[in-house]
Amino acid sequence: MTVTPASESIHESLASPNETMLVDRYNRTFTYMRVAVTDRCQLRCIYCMPAEGIDFTPDERLLTGDEILRIIGVGAALGVNKVRFTGGEPLLRSDILDLIRGASGTPGITSVNLTSNGLLVEDLAHELVEIGLTGINISLDTLDETKFAQIARRARLPKVLSGVKSALEAGISSVKLNVVALKGFNDGEIGDFAMLTKDDPITVRWIELMPFDAHQIWKTGRHMHAGEIQARLEELFPNLEKAAGTPTEHHIYRIPGHLGKLAIIPSYTRSLCENCDRIRITADGCVRNCLYSDNEFSLRDHMRNGGTDDELSRILRGAMWDKKVDGWASQRANDTGPEVHHRESMTQIGG
Ligand code: GTP
Ligand code: 5AD
Ligand code: SF4
Repeated sequence: MTVTPASESIHESLASPNETMLVDRYNRTFTYMRVAVTDRCQLRCIYCMPAEGIDFTPDERLLTGDEILRIIGVGAALGVNKVRFTGGEPLLRSDILDLIRGASGTPGITSVNLTSNGLLVEDLAHELVEIGLTGINISLDTLDETKFAQIARRARLPKVLSGVKSALEAGISSVKLNVVALKGFNDGEIGDFAMLTKDDPITVRWIELMPFDAHQIWKTGRHMHAGEIQARLEELFPNLEKAAGTPTEHHIYRIPGHLGKLAIIPSYTRSLCENCDRIRITADGCVRNCLYSDNEFSLRDHMRNGGTDDELSRILRGAMWDKKVDGWASQRANDTGPEVHHRESMTQIGG
């Protein structure tokens, strides 16, 4: 990661006219905070990290548990009601249960979620429900053991599947699977994944491959457009019904009679941006106003320099006010901001 030093006056230059909520110039309100709590992971998915891993952030540069809960508290006072802990693998963090408890107990927060690789879920599922976790999204790109070992560079499919099963058995309110759609790799499994929704109240979501990895495997012809995934689904299941979902889930369906749902996330096409309701905190404590924006503001440095909650609130409000109209405009504006962070892997941003 390269960092261009922040100018002294950066936070003064960002002024949102709304002092009570996180809003932007395009009439969007941000109520969903995604917090990356670590950039470490037991897997090495090829679209995310190189085989040898990345230069993981040293512990002292990660936010502490108190700092994370402080940011969530300031966010909640500005109308944030949904929190998602991501990573890397959030369950690798030793204080993750305290973070979930703390977020659940924060006034105003009504939904606390995890995005996980599923490997540690089997042992923790019941405890996660007890302490207030309302949803878990588990990454799973193939149902074939050999292919799993290729994509994740680790042979751990059975463990992920038992994690999914335990999450459902423990009764976590929302259980979803995230499948990164990869042409010539898992496009033949669309029907098999869809059938997982038959007897379980699970949402299977196909995600467009995005260019967030050091090796840029997305340039190798594997990318599948949301429209192609949609066409394949409609061909396999001509009687799909429309269903409702969250702002990232653009095409949402149910196969008649199935308990679960199907969704497509056009994360690269970026046709979802007008519904964006999210604010991101990176593993090293920066606020990022769009997945595609490299213009970040460090909350961690501010807190460690004795900054007050009012000042944190102003940085959060200013960062969101500065948000561009969509992910394409955010990408075009990269390298022009006063504090530019180029991330080499999705694990640092938290997805
Ligand atoms: P829900 O709260 O269940 O809707 O989950 P989510 O989609 O917000 O979160 P998750 O961590 O499961 O992310 C699934 C995929 O959607 C990941 O690949 C994310 O990078 C992608 N995604 C999440 N938020 C955004 C966003 O604001 N823009 C884009 N382009 N992609 C996003
Ligand atoms: N493109 C699309 N999705 C990605 N994810 C990680 N890297 C990429 C990428 N380059 C997904 C993971 C996980 C979610 C947080 O982000 O599969 O489910
Ligand atoms: Fe780990 Fe998720 Fe990255 Fe895969 S996509 S290596 S599971 S952080």
